[in-house]
Amino acid sequence: MIHTRAQHEGLPHTLLVSNVTAGVAGSGGSSFERRNPANRDDLVTVAPQSTREQVFQACEAARAAAGAWARVPAPERGRVLGRLAALLVEEKERLSRFIAREVGKPLREARGSVQEAIDTAEFFQGEGRRLYGQTVPSELPNKELFTYRRPIGVVGLITAGNFPIAVPSWKIVPALLTGNVIVWKPSDDAPGTAALFFELLRRAGVPAGVLNIVHGAGGGGAGEFMIDAVDAGLIDKISFTGSTAVGRKIGEVCGRRLQVPSLELGGKNPLVVLADADLELAVEGAVWAAYGTAGQRCTSAGNLIVDRRVLPAFRERFVRRASTLKIGNPLDEQNDYGPFINQRFLERWIEQRATGLDDGATLLLDGKRLAPGDAAPGFSGDAARGFYATPRLFDNVRIDMRIAQEECFGPTVNLIEVDGLDDAIRVANGTPYGLSSAIYTRDAHAMLRFKEEIRAGMTSINNSTTGAEAHLPFGGNGWSGNGTRESGIWVLDAYTRWQAVNVDLSGKLQKAQIDLSLVADAEAAPLGAALNAIP
Ligand code: UN1
Repeated sequence: MIHTRAQHEGLPHTLLVSNVTAGVAGSGGSSFERRNPANRDDLVTVAPQSTREQVFQACEAARAAAGAWARVPAPERGRVLGRLAALLVEEKERLSRFIAREVGKPLREARGSVQEAIDTAEFFQGEGRRLYGQTVPSELPNKELFTYRRPIGVVGLITAGNFPIAVPSWKIVPALLTGNVIVWKPSDDAPGTAALFFELLRRAGVPAGVLNIVHGAGGGGAGEFMIDAVDAGLIDKISFTGSTAVGRKIGEVCGRRLQVPSLELGGKNPLVVLADADLELAVEGAVWAAYGTAGQRCTSAGNLIVDRRVLPAFRERFVRRASTLKIGNPLDEQNDYGPFINQRFLERWIEQRATGLDDGATLLLDGKRLAPGDAAPGFSGDAARGFYATPRLFDNVRIDMRIAQEECFGPTVNLIEVDGLDDAIRVANGTPYGLSSAIYTRDAHAMLRFKEEIRAGMTSINNSTTGAEAHLPFGGNGWSGNGTRESGIWVLDAYTRWQAVNVDLSGKLQKAQIDLSLVADAEAAPLGAALNAIP
C-alpha cells in the first residue's frame, strides 16, 4: 500500500499501488517520504521501499501473467488503452494538480504532460488495430512468407521524476499494446503520481500481474535491484530514462545478457540563432527552452549559439525577457516556473556557478537560490520551504568549457558567440550529446544544412528545443542514448521482436536458394559461361 495525502485534491487518501505485488512491495519493509518541493512541510506521499527480493518477486509475478496477456488480441489490448485515455481525460485536472504538487511542475505544464499521456494512449489504441506485419513473396512456388511482431516478455521500466506520467506512458502504453508484461520503478521523486497512474491503468482493465510497481531509489534501491534482475535472467528488456552515467552501467549489464535496452539519457541541447533570425521569436523560444520547467527537461536548451552580428541585440533582449520571469508556487498559474524537483538538482546547479567562473565565463544573470527574506523581482514562492532559484545566464562561454559540455538540470544557460553557419554547426555539434537541437533563421538553405549536419535525434526550425510531439520519434545520439527511439510507430521496435514465418504448401521439400526456378537458371547460364572463360 502507498499512502498519498491528497485529500484536498479529492484523491483517495490511501492508494493501492500494485496488484500482485501489493503485499510484496509494501509489506513490512521500510518506507520513504515524498515532500512537495515548493513547500517541504507538505508531505505528499509515503511509499514503500522495495527490497531486492520483492523486486525479483515482482518480475516473477509478471512472468506468470505473460502468456495470457500476449494471447489477448491486439485490438482488445488497444481497447484497454482507449479506456485509459478516457480515464486520463476525466482525471486530467486532479492529476495535473497532484503532479504540480509532487514534483513542482507549473500547472499549465503539468496539464500538458498529462495531455502527452492521453495522446500516447489514444495513438496506441489505434495501433492495436494495425500492429502490421508483412506478407512477403517467396522465391519458391506454393510457399508463403509472413512477418509478425512478437512481445519481448518481461520489460523493466525505470523512469525519471520530471515527467512523471508522460514519460512512463511512452513506455507502459506501447509495451502493453505489444503484449509485454511490466515491472515499473518510477522515480522516488514521484511515487504518488505513479500510484495514481497505476490505479487508472488498473481501472482501464490491465489484468493483475501484467503491470507491477516497485519503489525506491535508483542506486542501492529498487532501480539497482531491477538491473540485478536482468543479470539473474528475470527481465528480458530494460527501458530507462535518466542520466548518461547510469545509462552506461545499465547498458553494460544488458550487453552481457545480449539484450538491447532503450536508453534515453542526458542532453546539452544547442539552440542556434543566425544573423537573419526573427530576434523576437528567437528570444521567446530561447527563454522558454532554457528556463521553462526550471530547465529540468532533458530537452532544455544548454547552449545558446548566437551569430556575432546579432549577439548584442539578442543578449540585451534575452536578459530583459528573462528578468520578467515569474517564479513561485507551481499551482499559481501566473508563474513561469516553480522549484527544483529535488535537493540534488539544486546542489548540482549551485556548484555549476563556480565551475563556470573557474572556466572564465562571466555571469550576466547571477541566478541564486532564494533564501527567506530575499526579494527577487517576480518571485512569489515560499523561500523558506521551497527549492527556488532565479535564472542564471553565463556569457563569454566557449564550447570546450565544462559548463558548455556537461548537462545541468536547472535554470541555467550559456551564451556562445559564433561567426556564421559553419561555425554555428561546428559549435552545436561540439558536445558528446545529441538529443535535441534548434535553429532560428529565415534562410531555407541554412535550415537544410542544419537539419542534415546537426548530430541530434530531434531538430526544431524556428521553435524551442523542448516540446516534442507525442507521435514523433523521441531519442538521441551519442551520449544521449543508444539509438533506440520512443513514441509513435518507431517505439514498436523497442518492445517487439520480428518473427519470420514460411508456410510451404507444395507437399515436397523445397530448398531455398537451391531449388530455384528455370527462369533463374536460364539467367544464370551466360554468367556461368563468362566465369568459365576466365583463365
Ligand atoms: C524529458 O525531459 O525527459 O519534448 C522529456 C519535450 C517533452 C518531453 C521531455 N515532450 O520537452
